[in-house]
Amino acid sequence: MKRLMKAATILSLLATTGFSADFTMKVSHVVSATTPKGKAADFFAKRVEELTGGKIDVQVFPNSQLFGDGEEMKALAMNNVQLIMPSLSKFTSIAPQMQLFDLPFMFRDKTHLYKVMDGEVGKILKSKVDEKKQMIALDYWDAGFKHLSSSKKALVSPADATGMKFRIQSSKVLEAQFKAVGGNPQVLPFSEVYSALQQGVVDGTENPLSNFYSKKFHEVQTSLTLTQHGYLGYLVVMNEQFWNKLPVYLQPKVLQAMKEATALERKESAQEDNEMMEGLKKYAKASGKLEIITLTTKQRQAWQDAMVKIYPEFADLIGAELINKALKTK
Ligand code: LMR
Repeated sequence: MKRLMKAATILSLLATTGFSADFTMKVSHVVSATTPKGKAADFFAKRVEELTGGKIDVQVFPNSQLFGDGEEMKALAMNNVQLIMPSLSKFTSIAPQMQLFDLPFMFRDKTHLYKVMDGEVGKILKSKVDEKKQMIALDYWDAGFKHLSSSKKALVSPADATGMKFRIQSSKVLEAQFKAVGGNPQVLPFSEVYSALQQGVVDGTENPLSNFYSKKFHEVQTSLTLTQHGYLGYLVVMNEQFWNKLPVYLQPKVLQAMKEATALERKESAQEDNEMMEGLKKYAKASGKLEIITLTTKQRQAWQDAMVKIYPEFADLIGAELINKALKTK
């Protein structure tokens, strides 16, 4: 009996401590674990552990638990976290050309977007990140097209945005985009958006539906306009030092897990939009506190006309040739 108990203790110790992994990979992100990015990060962790037979222990920290979006780039460069997937807008200081993805009305639809991302333009932009030496650019992940929301006047025509304070990510393009419609943009970390909206620090924001719904921004906004005016995506980046330390036989397994996670992430994102829309419609009906506005083609065109005026301003920073290449991608 005593011996049996001893064996059980050893087994449970092994279960809690795990069979010793040779490497620990910390993964940090700022959104909820239920979003496409959150689900794909968890899936990646599971697959790396499976494919490497537990040699790499992957720990995922969602919801800015480990690092907020103002800190995660530095933390990655210092190898305090080994894998992050910031939005493309957050690469502004590392590779300003990445702001191409922030240009309003850049992509006709998801097919166009993926052609650009997975084609020549996407490769060129990844290489700009790789040049930084501290990080390796892996795959592009998807969050979806962004929509505008407000707690003040409902945003139907661009003039409605005049004087309104909008939360933005740290991107010069996004700043210019809101200024172009008379808005007052303010950079805030994602983790502070809910309280900033609640307290009226900002009046409105722009988000893909998954971020809007999973962070309950609908509770602190009175209208959501389905503008689909911009895009939010991610680039998964790994610390270069960590990657170089991985034995050659483990590296392809990590890449395989990433490939599978990318496919899952994009699939989840495609499904998510419909599901989130249903959830928001239900909330709007039950609470009577959220107006969901669908624009007519003409109304949406007015936003486009007002916002695309900023393109020439970014011809040098992003590169006119790159912008044209993206626009002309079939
Ligand atoms: C944001 O700050 O709005 C987004 O980048 C958050 C995210 O990671 O989707």
